[in-house]
Amino acid sequence: AHFLLLNGPNLNLLGTREPGVYGQDSLAVIESRLADTACAAGHTLACFQSNSEAELIERIHAARDENVACALFNPAAFTHTSVALRDALLAAELAFIEVHLSNTAKREPFRHHSYFADIAVGTITGFGARGYAMALDAAMAGFAETAR
Ligand code: DQA
Repeated sequence: AHFLLLNGPNLNLLGTREPGVYGQDSLAVIESRLADTACAAGHTLACFQSNSEAELIERIHAARDENVACALFNPAAFTHTSVALRDALLAAELAFIEVHLSNTAKREPFRHHSYFADIAVGTITGFGARGYAMALDAAMAGFAETAR
């Protein structure tokens, strides 16, 4: 199957950005590791990161024609603000697993609400970069299909 890894704002700085909170791995390392895992299991993974809400929306629209079985999405700060991204996912009928490196429930109250959690297949939060691998594992196991 084909999967899509989507990362939102400031995640291009992973590895150098508050490493105590977000870990040491760069996004490039996370992306290549995940693509390798998908490939070894006979799947494909496309990766996209943007700091722009508009670009993320356009990327989600484009996914309509790509036969994406499941997206793995860390909306970053847009998690707590973006009705527009939520609507894009619904419009594109794109099944996705929500991923956060940090445990947002342990952090500031403004990080406790997600505009995505109730429409996600599931959410993985607080396990650092390993969370992406956990999400890919669930996606490859077909959780997006059973959730439909
Ligand atoms: C994040 C959590 C968000 O609250 C924050 O704005 C991020 C990253 C995470 O992966 O832990 O940028 O999504």
